[in-house]
Order: sequence, then C-alpha cells, then structure tokens
Amino acid sequence: MDADLLHARLAPWYAEHRRDLPWREPGFTAWGTLVSEIMLQQTQVARVRTAIVEWLDRWPTPADLADAPTHEVLRAWGTLGYPRRALRLQDAARAIVERHGGVVPDDVAQLLALPGIGDYTARAVAVFHFQQRHPVVDTNVRRVVARAVQGQGDAGPAARADLARVEALLPDDVAEAGTVSIALMELGALVCTARAPRCDECPLVGDCAWVAAGKPAYEGRRAPR
Ligand code: ADE
Repeated sequence: MDADLLHARLAPWYAEHRRDLPWREPGFTAWGTLVSEIMLQQTQVARVRTAIVEWLDRWPTPADLADAPTHEVLRAWGTLGYPRRALRLQDAARAIVERHGGVVPDDVAQLLALPGIGDYTARAVAVFHFQQRHPVVDTNVRRVVARAVQGQGDAGPAARADLARVEALLPDDVAEAGTVSIALMELGALVCTARAPRCDECPLVGDCAWVAAGKPAYEGRRAPR
C-alpha cells in the first residue's frame, strides 16, 4: 500500500461516509478542537457531540475557562467520566493564557508542552485545525494500518514506531495527508472495527494485506486497557 493509492481509495469513501460532527464544521476553533479531542479520548462520540457544544457555549475561549470557578468546571464535565481531564483542561487553558496570550499555539512542540496535552492531542490539533502535515495515530488508525498494511488482525501495544509507519502512508500534499488521517480514523470507527469489521463495505478490501492473508486471528500482545 503506498500513500497515493491509500489517498485514492480513502478520499472518495470519506467524502461519502463521514459523519457530520460539530468539530468538523467550518469555523470550529482551535480551542474547540483541543477540547473535543480531550473529550473523545475516553468518551463516546455520541455523548461528546452534544457535550462539546454546551461546553463551548459556556466557555468559548481558553481565557473563559481559565477564569471559571473550578467547581463549576467539574460540575459541567459531569457524566463525561474521568473528571481529572476537566482539571487538566483548565490547567491547559491557564497555560495558553499565560504563555500564548490566550491563543492556542499552532506548533506541535508548544502544544505538547501544555499540561495534559499528549502526543495524540497535540498532533490532532495541528492537523485537523491548523492543517499541518503530521501523522495522527489513535487506536482506530493503528488497527486499520495493522490490518491493511501489516496483515495482522490487530495492532500491538502503542509504540513509537507507529508514528513512522503512518507518516510513510501520508501523501506529500498537506490537504491530502489530512484527508488520509481523518479518513483512517473514521474507517476504523465505522468499518474496520475491532470485533466485527465490515470488509464488504471497505474501500481498502482489494488492497488489504489482512484480507489477502485470509484474516488470520491476532496472536500478538494486546494493548493494555
Ligand atoms: N475527528 C477528529 N478527531 C476525532 C476523534 N477523535 N473521533 C472522532 N472523530 C474525530
């Protein structure tokens, strides 16, 4: 599978099947992208799609959240789970105000330096909002690549090598690379699912190393849960 073939397969599929989600609307802010990515790490899309709109109505900018009483921030996080994320988000908002004048930085290293912002979130903001060319690797992307490219039934535990593997699949063109990243994620969420992949609906079925190998069961180590 090379980068151009992957883009040629994924771009039309994504255009047809992408879900309309608040963070994919034109004009969605960098701050909104950052907040939504943190919510999405441990909470279902169906829940986040309403929660993010309410959250951003209340605290539309980092400065608004930085100034909010912490007990209100925790209460608003409510049923999203893992409430420490709300505290870290407020820490990140305060750091954005102090270090960057309230403007979300567009640089991966500066994003990573914010409290509570890990490698995935920093790259997701840089790619999905600032339209830069970087690999964005979450569980869904790792599974799709493990199957389609490596011919394995699942990905092993997350590893540094995942980034280089996904980078090699990105076209040179920035916009095309962004489409590949979001489409890999959406394909993993909707079609190339962990337990019951719908290979008959997959745009990669004719090029998939796992299908070609007869869909062998995954025998390797699993990511810790
Ligand atoms: N779009 C961008 N990031 C996403 C995510 N983490 N889950 C679902 N859709 C997304």
